[in-house]
Amino acid sequence: ARYHPRAGHKDQLRMAPNIRSTQQGIDPMTSGSIPHPQGKKGRILSGIQPTGNLHLGNYLGAIRNWAAMQTDYQCLFCIVDMHAITIWQEPAELARATREVAAGYIAAGLDPATNTLFVQSHVPAHAQLAWIFNCVARMGWLNRMTQFKDKAGKNREAASSGLYVYPNLMAADILVYKATHVPVGEDQKQHLELARDIAQKFNNDYGIELFPLPEPVIQGPGMRVMSLRDGTKKMSKSDPSAYSRINMTDSEDDIAQKIRKATTDPEPLPGTVEGLENRPEASNLLNIYAALTDRTLAEVLVETEGWQFSQFKTRLTEAAVGVLGPITAEMQRLMADPAEIDSILKRGADSANEIASAVLKEAYSAVGFLPSDR
Ligand code: AMP
Ligand code: TRP
Repeated sequence: ARYHPRAGHKDQLRMAPNIRSTQQGIDPMTSGSIPHPQGKKGRILSGIQPTGNLHLGNYLGAIRNWAAMQTDYQCLFCIVDMHAITIWQEPAELARATREVAAGYIAAGLDPATNTLFVQSHVPAHAQLAWIFNCVARMGWLNRMTQFKDKAGKNREAASSGLYVYPNLMAADILVYKATHVPVGEDQKQHLELARDIAQKFNNDYGIELFPLPEPVIQGPGMRVMSLRDGTKKMSKSDPSAYSRINMTDSEDDIAQKIRKATTDPEPLPGTVEGLENRPEASNLLNIYAALTDRTLAEVLVETEGWQFSQFKTRLTEAAVGVLGPITAEMQRLMADPAEIDSILKRGADSANEIASAVLKEAYSAVGFLPSDR
């Protein structure tokens, strides 16, 4: 069904159908003004909010996977400060956390010379395109977003209107670069679907093949790092307990102490994956160990079968310190030199702006906004 501006009210409320494989005939490599570089499989855009501290879950569940894709794709990695303020952020802390995420990206191996690392608010086209998308997306679509329901909680009247239209801004983040692939965690899949629906409705309404439909790349299936205190809860930036998570800036001593204090059960470690059933804490620690040593769970269980937790925790600490140590050291070096971070982010913003302003211009023209540069 074509979504025409004059179509009936009902039509406009219906969710646009998802077209999965055809990309509507748009070749994202050549469409519009910004072809992708030769030899790349597509263009990636992803982002993390600068709230709280970056932790092991962000590293194993997101940044490490991005680093693995950086040679095959043209990559833009964003620090989404505009998303962060949909919930109140102390200004000084927001600024600190923004530089910390940048330092985390770089220290974890995202090369600022070959990837575009930038801050969302430095590229005004995100907000400008988001306004258009506020007028494309339907209230009915946003009403279905489970993250809004979770974050707004019981008192929806008190949630910011930014939190409600957050998915439209996220769609703009992606589509303003005509990104083809978006690596995200499972929890962001619904927002990606919405971005696809927005792209499709925009293209249909304005009769232009402007936006390719971005594909979600769901990160390392199953790689959910859980809290060290409670193996049934996700490791999270916002958990009040510092012992629940290993931060990317933690010292060796911090890491050792947090692992030592991690919740366990009284049994020795099993030799098979089935043996981990109903043992969430053991599963979590073993999954972390497997990820840190680049092995499968089954492989590490061969090594650790029959071990007591004390022995295993010593080994896990060595593995965590081995992987995180160099990252932490580089983050600390960068955090001590904010001018270096800022200049990397400035370069990133310049190259992001180049792509984004060209796409915004195409969108403005499609909508019928008069050109401002004549
Ligand atoms: P957040 O910390 O929720 O802003 O998420 C930033 C990125 O890190 C997203 O791609 C998440 O999917 C990923 N992430 C956050 N927490 C975890 C976790 N505990 N395990 C795995 N991935 C995570
Ligand atoms: N909503 C994402 C999260 O909470 C962050 C985000 C904002 C994002 N814009 C994005 C992720 C664009 C991927 C692409 O984790």
